[in-house]
Amino acid sequence: MIGIICAMQEEINQMLLLMKNVKQIQSFPFNFFVGSIMGKECVAALSNVGKVHAAICCQAMILNYKPKLILNVGVAGAINEELQIGDLVIASGVIQHDFDISAFPHRKKGEISGINSVEIKCTPWIMEKLINFRNDFPQISFEKGTILTGDQFVNSLEKRLNLKKEFGGLACEMEAGSIAQTAFLNKVEFGIVRSISDGANNKSVNDFNSFIDLSSKNAAKLCSKFIESL
Ligand code: ADE
Repeated sequence: MIGIICAMQEEINQMLLLMKNVKQIQSFPFNFFVGSIMGKECVAALSNVGKVHAAICCQAMILNYKPKLILNVGVAGAINEELQIGDLVIASGVIQHDFDISAFPHRKKGEISGINSVEIKCTPWIMEKLINFRNDFPQISFEKGTILTGDQFVNSLEKRLNLKKEFGGLACEMEAGSIAQTAFLNKVEFGIVRSISDGANNKSVNDFNSFIDLSSKNAAKLCSKFIESL
């Protein structure tokens, strides 16, 4: 069983279009969709937005469906100014930019207590396999790098530049870090595929609304290719 977590209806819709024999299972407070993609058994979940939603959804998926791996699929805002709308970002790792225990000696900003590191690395073979599909999608640009997660929609150039200065990274979004942490703590392998919907700037709300379908489609297409290859 392969697990897929999307935060928003628009994001999961593009996955469901690629899924066959879909059965919806309401498991309060989440909707799970069990079916197959390219002949492989999958469960897709709609987590809703933000780190808490994503973490409890990921834990519920692990306990109920025991997926052998989890993919977090959806859209993101660009932190790196070279990224364009629709580009794919494959996470090498994730940083929770709003996790801050740096008030304590020797703790860095973003460092997660218990795990004691700033970045949680994605499962290397999943990340490599995902990036290697770049030749199958010549019309879409692929990048690999760090994704920044926090419970905030980034909608100003100032916020975007601050994040870039503090953590580096390619893109920002609101769930991947908590899914990575939950999967890591449960020893479940995971990968993160995001497509750029906006520039995390003062146009980001409009762009997000305009491009969420197109960008979600790009992310879903890559995931389907990846799942087919398993
Ligand atoms: N997801 C897509 N765009 C985003 C943004 N600008 N900030 C946070 N999450 C996002």
